[in-house]
Amino acid sequence: MADLGLTIAGVALKNPVMTASGTFGYGREYGCFFPLNRLGAVVTKGITLEPRAGNPGPRVVETPAGMLNSIGLQNPGVDGFIADELPSMREAGVPVIVNVSGHSPAEYGEVAARLDGLEGVSALEINVSCPNVDQGGMAFGVDPRSVAEVVAGCRRRTRLPLITKLTPNVTSLAPVARAAVEAGTDAVSLINTLVGMVIDVVSRRPVLARGAGGLSGPAIRPVAVRAVYEVAAAIEVPVIGLGGIVTAEDALQFIMAGASAVAVGTALFADPLAACRVVEGLAAWCDGQGVSWIGEIVGAANPAFRGRRPGRMTEC
Ligand SMILES: Cc1cc2nc3c(=O)[nH]c(=O)nc-3n(C[C@H](O)[C@H](O)[C@H](O)COP(=O)(O)O)c2cc1C
Repeated sequence: MADLGLTIAGVALKNPVMTASGTFGYGREYGCFFPLNRLGAVVTKGITLEPRAGNPGPRVVETPAGMLNSIGLQNPGVDGFIADELPSMREAGVPVIVNVSGHSPAEYGEVAARLDGLEGVSALEINVSCPNVDQGGMAFGVDPRSVAEVVAGCRRRTRLPLITKLTPNVTSLAPVARAAVEAGTDAVSLINTLVGMVIDVVSRRPVLARGAGGLSGPAIRPVAVRAVYEVAAAIEVPVIGLGGIVTAEDALQFIMAGASAVAVGTALFADPLAACRVVEGLAAWCDGQGVSWIGEIVGAANPAFRGRRPGRMTEC
């Protein structure tokens, strides 16, 4: 049986399959479908300093091969998360990666500080797709300097491994990825959603109450694979790939493009077992291809790959 275990940024994963932030809540609803420790890690919904109610509905609409969402970072706030959600996640025995969001570098830093040193938190994923209130609403993630400011601020406030989650809504990803690395990120994940809109032709209005939303699902997969390919050739820290993964073959595309691990998101809405099926499919594929360790094929399709390959669990 192939070895799927690996380490990324010091976090040991029994397999390279995670859940994508915002598509798995805090795991509660999925616990009745499968034990969460079948996954490599669980990534939480975005956590902010204060609780947020999120946007008014409608805030989700189905699209061809995907969906559009405008949830608006609904979450219990960092203290509510620590008190009410983290204990049951800890008991599940799965590495927990907390997705951190904020409207200012100071907010990100404060959330990172409150999570520092807590048992059961393995790493932070910094979502730089939030609007930067200090700079008038532009997302942090589109400007390398803002990304660096957010990452460096978190770096100063926590010893946890940092994963910076990049947005595809930029002209060129490499400068943003490099800025995150120079500011101290231990890994990057990509992609977050693409900005899109659906219009109801009867009401003559956008379907989502907020107008535009984030497009996810299989429709964005080729964009995401290309993004991973580009970034894995530009930086030397591990890359986590996501965007439209439904099957093990989809995950393999990301791994061969240069991702050390992958996350499954929108597919979970249609099939709560989708991520588990990806784990099983990766093991079967490796066995069928004579690949003894999944880390061997990271970047196999990317001649320009210069990222750091994952570590082997047996080496730690
Ligand atoms: C309903 C929903 C909520 C999301 N919330 C977050 C979030 O809080 N933080 C974040 O970084 N990404 C969030 N995302 C983006 C996903 O984590 C992921 O990057 C994106 O959906 C692409 O992956 P997928 O096509 O497999 O869903 C959300 C996506 C969806 C569909």
